[in-house]
Amino acid sequence: MVSRRRLLQRSLYTAAGVTLSKGVPLLGQAMASPPQVRSSVKLTRFVDPLPIPPVIRSTGKPDGIIEIEMRQFKAKAHRDLPPTTLWGYNGSWPGPTIEAQSGQALNVNWVSKLPDVHLLPIDHSIHGADASLPSVRNVAHLHGACVLPDDDGYPEAWFTANGEHGPKFNPRPSHYPNCQPSTTLWYHDHCLGITRLNVYAGLAGFYLIRDETEAALNLPQGEFEIPLMLQDRLFHHDGSLYYPRVVNGPKEHSIWIQELFGDMNCVNGKVTPFLEVEPRRYRFRILNASNSRFYHLRLFNSDATGKLEDDSFDAPAFHQIGTDGGLLPAPVELHYLLIAPAERFDVVLDFSECGGKSFSLINDAPAPYTMGGQYLAEDVMLFKVSRPLSGKDTSSVPITLAPFVPIEPTFGMRERMLLVSEKERQSDGYVITGLLGNAHWHEPITEDPKVGSTEIWSFVNITSDVHPLHVHLVQFQILNRQAFDVPTYQQTGKIVFTGRPMAPESNERPARKDTIKSYPGYVTRVIQRFDLPAGATITPGQELLYVWHCHILEHEDNEMMRPYKVIT
Ligand code: C2O
Ligand code: CU
Repeated sequence: MVSRRRLLQRSLYTAAGVTLSKGVPLLGQAMASPPQVRSSVKLTRFVDPLPIPPVIRSTGKPDGIIEIEMRQFKAKAHRDLPPTTLWGYNGSWPGPTIEAQSGQALNVNWVSKLPDVHLLPIDHSIHGADASLPSVRNVAHLHGACVLPDDDGYPEAWFTANGEHGPKFNPRPSHYPNCQPSTTLWYHDHCLGITRLNVYAGLAGFYLIRDETEAALNLPQGEFEIPLMLQDRLFHHDGSLYYPRVVNGPKEHSIWIQELFGDMNCVNGKVTPFLEVEPRRYRFRILNASNSRFYHLRLFNSDATGKLEDDSFDAPAFHQIGTDGGLLPAPVELHYLLIAPAERFDVVLDFSECGGKSFSLINDAPAPYTMGGQYLAEDVMLFKVSRPLSGKDTSSVPITLAPFVPIEPTFGMRERMLLVSEKERQSDGYVITGLLGNAHWHEPITEDPKVGSTEIWSFVNITSDVHPLHVHLVQFQILNRQAFDVPTYQQTGKIVFTGRPMAPESNERPARKDTIKSYPGYVTRVIQRFDLPAGATITPGQELLYVWHCHILEHEDNEMMRPYKVIT
C-alpha cells in the first residue's frame, strides 16, 4: 500500500504535468501570504451524509415571483461539531437550488431578515465598507446570467433588513429573463467591500436553467443528478465560523487578508461528507464557491472509510458535459478537474462497474494557486457505491451534446489590453491590494463596449497568482493564452511575447465561459459579445452599468473589481 503522503505527492507531480506542461512559469517570489491558520478542532472525515439543497421550481406562470429570505440560523456542519451560526437564503446553506426553464422569465424578491450585527470581522478601510454604513448589507447577484443592470445585483445596490439601501438599490424583485441555454448558474451575495464575508457566512446557492436540448439527451436526472457546492472553511471548536484577520498587516488594511484558505472542505454545507450511490451513471454539477481556493480534483480507489488503496487510474473518469455557460458540444473525458473559484463543471461519473467500491475525491491544488504555501485541504468527499441498483440505468451520455456557435471576430473589432496587477508595500513586497486595468473601483469607467458589439479582452497578468476573472452579463469564449516577458513589461510597459498563443484546455474551447483563469506571465484572451437580454427595451444613449472582477473574493473586495458600461 502506498502512503497517503506519497500518493498526493505523486498526483501533485502529475498535476504539474497537466496544468503546467504548457510552460506556465512560476514567477518571482510568492506574495507574502497571511500566516497559516487552522481550525481549532480536528474532525473525522467522511462521517456525514452529503446534504442535497432544497429545490425551488419556477412557478411556470409567465413572470412568476418567488420570494427568498436571507436569515441567520444554526446548522451542524459536521457530526462532532456543535451547530454553526450561519447566514443562508431561506435559512439554508447552500441556499435552495432554483430551477428555471430557458425562455421563461422568473422574478425573485430578495428579502433580508438578517440581524444588524455582522458575524465576521469587517475591515472598514476597504473601499465601500465604511464604518458609517450599516454593517449588515446585502445584494444578490445571479452569476453568469444575462440580465439588465437593475436586476444584476450591482455591488452598490445593497439593502438592509430595516430598509436602508445603497445608491444603486432597485426596490423591485429581480427579473431574470433566462434567455440562455440550459446551464449551471449560481447566486451569491455581491455587496461592495464585504462580499467575501457574506458569502463565507453562507450566502450562495445554485440556479439551474433547463431546456429541451438538455431534456432530449437523456442524461442522468432526478435523484441521479446532484449539485456539489465546494467551499473551504475554518471552524472554532464551539462550531462557529472562523474568518481570520491579518497579523502584522499593513497600516492601509489592518484586518483584510489577501486570501482565505480553510483547512476543511465543505460540500453542500457539510465537512468532507460521503455519498452512497448505486452502480450507475450520475450527473454532478460541481461549483467552486470557495472564497480563494482552487481545486485540482482526482478520484482515488479507497476503502469504505476513505482510506486510499492505490493510486491507479482505474477509478471512474470525469466525463465533462458542461461548463459555466452551458453544455459542451461533446463530452470531454478527464482524470483531473482544475476548478477556479466561481467556475462550474457539469460532469457525469459512471459507477456501473463499481459495485461495492469506494472512491475519495481528493484535492491537490496548491494554495494560493499555483504558488502554494498554505494548507492544501486534501479531502473533499467520499463516494460509496454501496446501494443496490434501484432499476435499470437507462440514461446515456451521447457523443454529441449541444450545438456550439462560436463568437466570430468582427471587422474593426476592439481588443482591450487589461492589466492584472498588485500594489505592494515598499518595505517587504507585502501585497496591499490588487488592481484591474491599473485602476481603482471609484476611478472613471474605461471599459465601455457598444451594445451588440464584439470585443476581445486580453488580461495581462503580471502578478504571481492565477486570478479567476469574471465579466458580468456575458458568456465569453476563450481564444488563447500567450506568454510574455514580465520584467520587460515592468520596465518599459511593452508586452514582448516569449511564445506563440497556446490553445485553451480541452474543456475550455469550444465552451461558453463567464470565469476564466488568468495565468501569471500570460496574456489570456477572451472574445465576447455584449448582447442584452432578448426583448430588452432600451432607449438610445442609455448607459448600462455592470462590473468585471477577480472572483477570489478577498481580491474582489479590495479593488480587484471595476465597473464597466454597455453603451446603447
Ligand atoms: Cu460570482 Cu460578480 O460574481
Ligand atoms: Cu485575484
